[in-house]
Amino acid sequence: MELLHAFTVLITIFVGILGKVCAEADFTQWHPPGPGDSRGPCPALNSLANHGILPRNGRGMTIPILIKGISQGLNVGNDLTIPVGTVGLLASDSLLKLSFDLDDLSKHDELIEHDASLSREDIYFGDNTRFNSEIWQSVVDFFRHDERVNTTAAARARFNRVKVQSGRNPEFTYSAKNMIISYTETAQYLSVFGNPLTGNPRVDWVRTFFEEERLPYNEGWRPPKMTTNLATVTAMTLELILAGGEVLPEGLEVTENLVGKILAGKPIEGIIGNPPIINRIL
Ligand SMILES: *[C@@H]1O[C@H](CO)[C@@H](O)[C@H](O)[C@H]1NC(C)=O
Repeated sequence: MELLHAFTVLITIFVGILGKVCAEADFTQWHPPGPGDSRGPCPALNSLANHGILPRNGRGMTIPILIKGISQGLNVGNDLTIPVGTVGLLASDSLLKLSFDLDDLSKHDELIEHDASLSREDIYFGDNTRFNSEIWQSVVDFFRHDERVNTTAAARARFNRVKVQSGRNPEFTYSAKNMIISYTETAQYLSVFGNPLTGNPRVDWVRTFFEEERLPYNEGWRPPKMTTNLATVTAMTLELILAGGEVLPEGLEVTENLVGKILAGKPIEGIIGNPPIINRIL
Protein backbone atom coordinates (compact mmCIF):
# COMPACT_ATOMS: atom_id res chain seq x y z
CA MET A 1 0.00 0.00 0.00
CA GLU A 2 2.77 2.32 1.08
CA LEU A 3 4.73 1.49 -2.06
CA LEU A 4 1.78 2.03 -4.33
CA HIS A 5 1.22 5.40 -2.74
CA ALA A 6 4.84 6.40 -3.31
CA PHE A 7 4.51 5.25 -6.90
CA THR A 8 1.37 7.33 -7.46
CA VAL A 9 3.06 10.36 -5.97
CA LEU A 10 6.02 9.84 -8.28
CA ILE A 11 3.80 9.55 -11.34
CA THR A 12 1.90 12.64 -10.32
CA ILE A 13 5.13 14.59 -9.94
CA PHE A 14 6.39 13.30 -13.26
CA VAL A 15 3.21 14.22 -15.10
CA GLY A 16 3.30 17.56 -13.35
CA ILE A 17 6.81 18.20 -14.66
CA LEU A 18 5.86 17.06 -18.16
CA GLY A 19 2.84 19.31 -18.03
CA LYS A 20 5.08 22.23 -17.20
CA VAL A 21 7.55 21.45 -19.96
CA CYS A 22 4.84 21.14 -22.58
CA ALA A 23 2.78 24.09 -21.39
CA GLU A 24 2.52 27.06 -23.69
CA ALA A 25 4.44 30.07 -22.52
CA ASP A 26 2.49 33.02 -21.14
CA PHE A 27 2.69 35.72 -23.80
CA THR A 28 0.42 38.19 -22.01
CA GLN A 29 2.95 39.73 -19.61
CA TRP A 30 4.98 41.97 -21.91
CA HIS A 31 6.88 44.90 -20.39
CA PRO A 32 9.70 46.98 -21.88
CA PRO A 33 13.04 46.47 -20.13
CA GLY A 34 13.77 48.38 -16.94
CA PRO A 35 16.88 50.51 -16.35
CA GLY A 36 19.13 47.71 -15.06
CA ASP A 37 18.04 45.07 -17.56
CA SER A 38 20.45 43.68 -20.14
CA ARG A 39 19.36 43.63 -23.77
CA GLY A 40 21.46 42.80 -26.82
CA PRO A 41 21.56 42.89 -30.61
CA CYS A 42 19.17 39.92 -31.00
CA PRO A 43 15.50 40.97 -31.21
CA ALA A 44 14.29 37.41 -30.54
CA LEU A 45 16.08 37.01 -27.22
CA ASN A 46 15.17 40.59 -26.25
CA SER A 47 11.48 39.92 -27.01
CA LEU A 48 11.43 36.70 -25.00
CA ALA A 49 12.95 38.59 -22.05
CA ASN A 50 10.36 41.38 -22.44
CA HIS A 51 7.62 38.73 -22.14
CA GLY A 52 9.30 37.12 -19.13
CA ILE A 53 9.68 33.88 -21.09
CA LEU A 54 13.42 34.35 -20.65
CA PRO A 55 14.64 36.10 -17.46
CA ARG A 56 13.42 39.69 -17.62
CA ASN A 57 16.74 41.14 -16.50
CA GLY A 58 18.38 39.54 -19.55
CA ARG A 59 21.08 38.07 -17.36
CA GLY A 60 22.24 34.62 -16.34
CA MET A 61 21.32 32.90 -19.61
CA THR A 62 22.27 29.24 -19.46
CA ILE A 63 21.69 26.60 -22.12
CA PRO A 64 18.76 24.95 -20.25
CA ILE A 65 17.11 28.38 -19.75
CA LEU A 66 17.54 29.23 -23.43
CA ILE A 67 16.29 25.85 -24.67
CA LYS A 68 13.13 26.10 -22.59
CA GLY A 69 12.40 29.75 -23.43
CA ILE A 70 13.17 29.56 -27.13
CA SER A 71 11.29 26.32 -27.57
CA GLN A 72 8.18 27.40 -25.64
CA GLY A 73 8.21 30.92 -26.94
CA LEU A 74 9.08 30.42 -30.61
CA ASN A 75 9.13 26.65 -31.25
CA VAL A 76 12.74 26.86 -32.37
CA GLY A 77 14.61 23.58 -31.92
CA ASN A 78 17.58 22.71 -29.74
CA ASP A 79 19.81 22.21 -32.78
CA LEU A 80 19.59 25.97 -33.38
CA THR A 81 19.46 27.06 -29.74
CA ILE A 82 22.41 25.09 -28.39
CA PRO A 83 25.01 26.50 -30.84
CA VAL A 84 23.90 30.07 -30.16
CA GLY A 85 23.87 29.38 -26.42
CA THR A 86 27.38 27.97 -26.60
CA VAL A 87 28.55 30.97 -28.56
CA GLY A 88 26.93 33.26 -25.98
CA LEU A 89 28.82 31.49 -23.22
CA LEU A 90 32.08 32.03 -25.08
CA ALA A 91 31.28 35.74 -25.28
CA SER A 92 30.55 36.00 -21.59
CA ASP A 93 33.13 37.39 -19.22
CA SER A 94 31.92 34.86 -16.72
CA LEU A 95 32.69 31.64 -18.53
CA LEU A 96 33.02 29.87 -15.21
CA LYS A 97 29.45 30.72 -14.29
CA LEU A 98 28.30 29.06 -17.54
CA SER A 99 25.87 31.85 -18.18
CA PHE A 100 25.83 35.07 -20.20
CA ASP A 101 23.93 38.34 -20.37
CA LEU A 102 22.14 39.44 -23.55
CA ASP A 103 24.50 42.36 -24.14
CA ASP A 104 27.45 39.94 -24.21
CA LEU A 105 26.21 39.05 -27.70
CA SER A 106 27.18 42.51 -28.99
CA LYS A 107 30.87 41.71 -29.21
CA HIS A 108 31.73 42.60 -32.75
CA ASP A 109 32.32 39.93 -35.33
CA GLU A 110 33.62 37.50 -32.72
CA LEU A 111 30.66 35.23 -32.59
CA ILE A 112 27.21 35.96 -33.96
CA GLU A 113 27.30 39.77 -34.17
CA HIS A 114 28.00 41.03 -37.69
CA ASP A 115 27.85 44.12 -39.91
CA ALA A 116 24.83 44.87 -42.12
CA SER A 117 22.25 43.84 -39.52
CA LEU A 118 18.59 44.32 -40.46
CA SER A 119 17.89 46.50 -37.47
CA ARG A 120 21.20 47.62 -35.95
CA GLU A 121 23.97 49.96 -37.06
CA ASP A 122 27.48 48.60 -37.73
CA ILE A 123 29.89 48.86 -34.78
CA TYR A 124 32.00 51.30 -36.86
CA PHE A 125 29.25 53.91 -36.42
CA GLY A 126 28.97 53.35 -32.67
CA ASP A 127 25.91 51.46 -31.46
CA ASN A 128 25.59 47.89 -32.71
CA THR A 129 23.20 46.86 -29.94
CA ARG A 130 20.12 49.07 -29.97
CA PHE A 131 17.31 49.04 -32.52
CA ASN A 132 17.88 51.63 -35.28
CA SER A 133 14.60 52.72 -36.87
CA GLU A 134 16.19 54.33 -39.93
CA ILE A 135 17.99 51.11 -40.85
CA TRP A 136 14.93 49.00 -40.18
CA GLN A 137 12.85 51.34 -42.39
CA SER A 138 15.22 50.61 -45.27
CA VAL A 139 14.32 46.93 -44.84
CA VAL A 140 10.57 47.55 -44.46
CA ASP A 141 10.69 49.56 -47.71
CA PHE A 142 10.94 46.23 -49.55
CA PHE A 143 7.51 45.07 -48.35
CA ARG A 144 5.75 48.03 -46.76
CA HIS A 145 2.82 47.91 -49.20
CA ASP A 146 2.27 44.18 -48.80
CA GLU A 147 0.31 42.10 -46.34
CA ARG A 148 3.03 39.44 -46.14
CA VAL A 149 6.81 39.25 -46.52
CA ASN A 150 7.63 36.81 -49.31
CA THR A 151 11.01 35.15 -49.78
CA THR A 152 12.05 37.42 -52.65
CA ALA A 153 11.31 40.63 -50.76
CA ALA A 154 13.08 39.33 -47.63
CA ALA A 155 16.11 38.24 -49.67
CA ARG A 156 16.36 41.57 -51.46
CA ALA A 157 15.96 43.55 -48.26
CA ARG A 158 18.75 41.56 -46.64
CA PHE A 159 21.14 41.84 -49.60
CA ASN A 160 20.43 45.55 -49.87
CA ARG A 161 21.66 46.00 -46.30
CA VAL A 162 24.93 44.29 -47.25
CA LYS A 163 25.39 46.52 -50.28
CA VAL A 164 24.52 49.74 -48.46
CA GLN A 165 26.83 49.08 -45.52
CA SER A 166 29.69 47.88 -47.72
CA GLY A 167 29.42 51.24 -49.50
CA ARG A 168 29.39 53.45 -46.42
CA ASN A 169 31.40 51.57 -43.78
CA PRO A 170 35.16 51.79 -44.42
CA GLU A 171 35.69 48.91 -42.00
CA PHE A 172 32.92 46.73 -43.34
CA THR A 173 33.44 43.06 -42.50
CA TYR A 174 31.66 40.40 -44.51
CA SER A 175 33.12 36.94 -44.21
CA ALA A 176 31.43 33.75 -45.33
CA LYS A 177 30.57 33.23 -41.66
CA ASN A 178 28.90 36.66 -41.36
CA MET A 179 27.05 36.04 -44.58
CA ILE A 180 25.56 32.72 -43.45
CA ILE A 181 24.62 34.03 -39.99
CA SER A 182 22.84 36.94 -41.63
CA TYR A 183 20.88 34.58 -43.92
CA THR A 184 19.83 32.39 -40.99
CA GLU A 185 18.44 35.47 -39.21
CA THR A 186 16.21 36.32 -42.14
CA ALA A 187 15.25 32.64 -42.43
CA GLN A 188 14.31 32.61 -38.75
CA TYR A 189 11.99 35.59 -38.77
CA LEU A 190 10.28 34.23 -41.89
CA SER A 191 9.91 30.84 -40.16
CA VAL A 192 8.77 31.90 -36.72
CA PHE A 193 6.25 34.52 -37.84
CA GLY A 194 5.28 32.62 -40.96
CA ASN A 195 5.97 28.97 -41.60
CA PRO A 196 9.29 27.09 -41.26
CA LEU A 197 8.90 25.65 -44.78
CA THR A 198 7.23 28.46 -46.68
CA GLY A 199 7.87 31.62 -44.66
CA ASN A 200 5.43 34.32 -45.75
CA PRO A 201 4.79 36.03 -42.39
CA ARG A 202 2.39 38.93 -41.93
CA VAL A 203 4.20 42.25 -42.35
CA ASP A 204 2.54 43.75 -39.25
CA TRP A 205 3.71 40.82 -37.08
CA VAL A 206 7.29 41.15 -38.30
CA ARG A 207 7.19 44.90 -37.67
CA THR A 208 5.83 44.51 -34.14
CA PHE A 209 8.63 42.06 -33.40
CA PHE A 210 11.48 44.28 -34.65
CA GLU A 211 10.03 47.66 -33.69
CA GLU A 212 8.69 46.87 -30.21
CA GLU A 213 10.61 43.66 -29.41
CA ARG A 214 7.23 42.16 -28.66
CA LEU A 215 5.76 38.89 -29.94
CA PRO A 216 2.52 39.77 -31.77
CA TYR A 217 0.35 37.54 -29.57
CA ASN A 218 -2.34 40.20 -29.18
CA GLU A 219 -2.47 40.53 -32.96
CA GLY A 220 -3.19 36.81 -33.37
CA TRP A 221 0.28 35.28 -33.73
CA ARG A 222 0.96 31.92 -32.07
CA PRO A 223 4.20 29.90 -32.19
CA PRO A 224 4.09 27.78 -35.36
CA LYS A 225 3.08 24.12 -34.85
CA MET A 226 6.13 23.03 -36.82
CA THR A 227 9.56 23.40 -35.19
CA THR A 228 12.09 25.69 -36.85
CA ASN A 229 15.33 23.70 -36.83
CA LEU A 230 18.71 23.48 -38.53
CA ALA A 231 17.25 21.56 -41.50
CA THR A 232 14.40 24.01 -42.18
CA VAL A 233 16.63 27.06 -41.69
CA THR A 234 19.26 25.67 -44.06
CA ALA A 235 16.61 24.95 -46.70
CA MET A 236 15.19 28.46 -46.36
CA THR A 237 18.68 29.98 -46.48
CA LEU A 238 19.22 28.27 -49.84
CA GLU A 239 15.92 29.66 -51.08
CA LEU A 240 16.91 33.15 -49.95
CA ILE A 241 20.29 32.93 -51.69
CA LEU A 242 18.55 31.99 -54.94
CA ALA A 243 15.88 34.65 -54.56
CA GLY A 244 18.30 37.48 -53.73
CA GLY A 245 20.85 36.65 -56.41
CA GLU A 246 23.93 36.96 -54.22
CA VAL A 247 26.96 35.08 -55.47
CA LEU A 248 28.51 32.73 -52.92
CA PRO A 249 32.27 32.62 -52.39
CA GLU A 250 33.90 29.87 -54.38
CA GLY A 251 33.93 26.58 -52.53
CA LEU A 252 31.12 27.51 -50.13
CA GLU A 253 28.49 24.82 -50.17
CA VAL A 254 25.58 25.60 -47.90
CA THR A 255 24.67 22.40 -46.06
CA GLU A 256 23.17 21.68 -42.65
CA ASN A 257 26.60 20.64 -41.48
CA LEU A 258 28.16 23.94 -42.58
CA VAL A 259 25.39 26.09 -41.10
CA GLY A 260 25.57 24.14 -37.84
CA LYS A 261 29.32 24.67 -37.63
CA ILE A 262 29.05 28.38 -38.33
CA LEU A 263 26.34 28.93 -35.73
CA ALA A 264 28.42 27.03 -33.18
CA GLY A 265 31.41 29.29 -33.88
CA LYS A 266 33.48 26.41 -35.27
CA PRO A 267 36.00 27.04 -38.04
CA ILE A 268 34.99 26.20 -41.59
CA GLU A 269 37.71 24.79 -43.75
CA GLY A 270 38.70 26.16 -47.11
CA ILE A 271 36.79 29.44 -46.97
CA ILE A 272 39.04 32.45 -46.66
CA GLY A 273 38.27 36.11 -47.10
CA ASN A 274 35.13 37.95 -48.04
CA PRO A 275 32.42 36.69 -50.32
CA PRO A 276 32.05 38.74 -53.51
CA ILE A 277 29.22 41.24 -53.34
CA ILE A 278 27.65 41.39 -56.75
CA ASN A 279 24.81 43.75 -57.46
CA ARG A 280 22.92 41.35 -59.62
CA ILE A 281 19.51 42.34 -58.37
CA LEU A 282 19.65 46.01 -59.24
C1 LIG B 1 7.00 39.42 -53.40
O1 LIG B 1 6.91 40.71 -52.88
C2 LIG B 1 7.41 41.68 -53.77
C3 LIG B 1 7.47 42.99 -53.02
O2 LIG B 1 6.23 43.46 -52.74
C4 LIG B 1 6.53 41.71 -55.01
O3 LIG B 1 7.01 42.69 -55.91
C5 LIG B 1 6.54 40.35 -55.66
O4 LIG B 1 5.65 40.32 -56.73
C6 LIG B 1 6.18 39.27 -54.65
N1 LIG B 1 6.43 37.97 -55.25
C7 LIG B 1 5.57 36.98 -55.19
C8 LIG B 1 5.99 35.71 -55.83
O5 LIG B 1 4.49 37.10 -54.65
